[in-house]
Amino acid sequence: MNSLSRETIAERVAALGPWFHNLYLEGVWTAPDHFLGDFPGIMWRRFRDALPDDLEGRSVLDIGCNSGFYCAEMKRRGAGRVVGIDSEPFYLEQARFAAQVLGHDSEFREMSVYDVGALGERFDIVLFMGVAYHLRHPLLALDLLWEHVADDVLVFQSMQRGSTQVLEPPPDMDFFDTEAFDAPGWPKLHFIEQRYAGDPTNWWAPNSACTQAMLRSAGFRPFSQPETEVFLCRRTARAAGAEPVYPARGPHGAGHRRGKKGRAA
Ligand SMILES: C[S@@+](CC[C@H](N)C(=O)[O-])C[C@H]1O[C@@H](n2cnc3c(N)ncnc32)[C@H](O)[C@@H]1O
Repeated sequence: MNSLSRETIAERVAALGPWFHNLYLEGVWTAPDHFLGDFPGIMWRRFRDALPDDLEGRSVLDIGCNSGFYCAEMKRRGAGRVVGIDSEPFYLEQARFAAQVLGHDSEFREMSVYDVGALGERFDIVLFMGVAYHLRHPLLALDLLWEHVADDVLVFQSMQRGSTQVLEPPPDMDFFDTEAFDAPGWPKLHFIEQRYAGDPTNWWAPNSACTQAMLRSAGFRPFSQPETEVFLCRRTARAAGAEPVYPARGPHGAGHRRGKKGRAA
């Protein structure tokens, strides 16, 4: 039970800031001036009805949990084991403090999505929201989720840009069919070499068709799209060749093989 005064909470919130999640902690908002408004509450309200009200006993893994907004919501619905991972210890400190104030027992661990295999367990619900486009290797991340931690439902969200038309590619195409790639609904993953919105970790902006195609290819079948950017998926069979590719190391730690004359082979 939280026994901190409002003043103490306000002081701790200020000391732990800046916050990305706008949480309501006993009368104190953590990010009232968020550039997206009341975030992620505003997003949650758009898709929360698509998830069961009662999560009694379900296990949840929240990847890129930030300060734990979704962990708290899962607990509010009665989820059993809730684990939040994030690569930023700074956000995890916020998450632990928020959980203390809100009185829930989610477990928070510093871990990259690329290391989820180390968790050694599967979860009924995996949340992977707002993270994929921050990764250099988003498909590898999805492959790793399928391989190691997803048991049933994946809740996925990505920033999306480009056409909202969705073209499901045919099973095969003629080599000389080049025009198809220019169709607005063709799956496209826009690469961001420079910055986008001032954030050097915004690497990718898929269009909607691409988000769905990547999910399917990695073995996650979208069954609901309650919000343009949010997809609820079921873990199913993955595409041939979608096994996760781990970083390969040569005998001397080199990242690639070398030919006889020292050239990359
Ligand atoms: C845009 S925020 C999204 C937060 C939250 N999931 C949401 O939807 O509101 C991205 C979060 O992903 C975390 N993150 C970035 N790269 C990561 C990685 N490789 N593994 C785990 N978390 C990562 C960041 O630290 C940050 O907390």
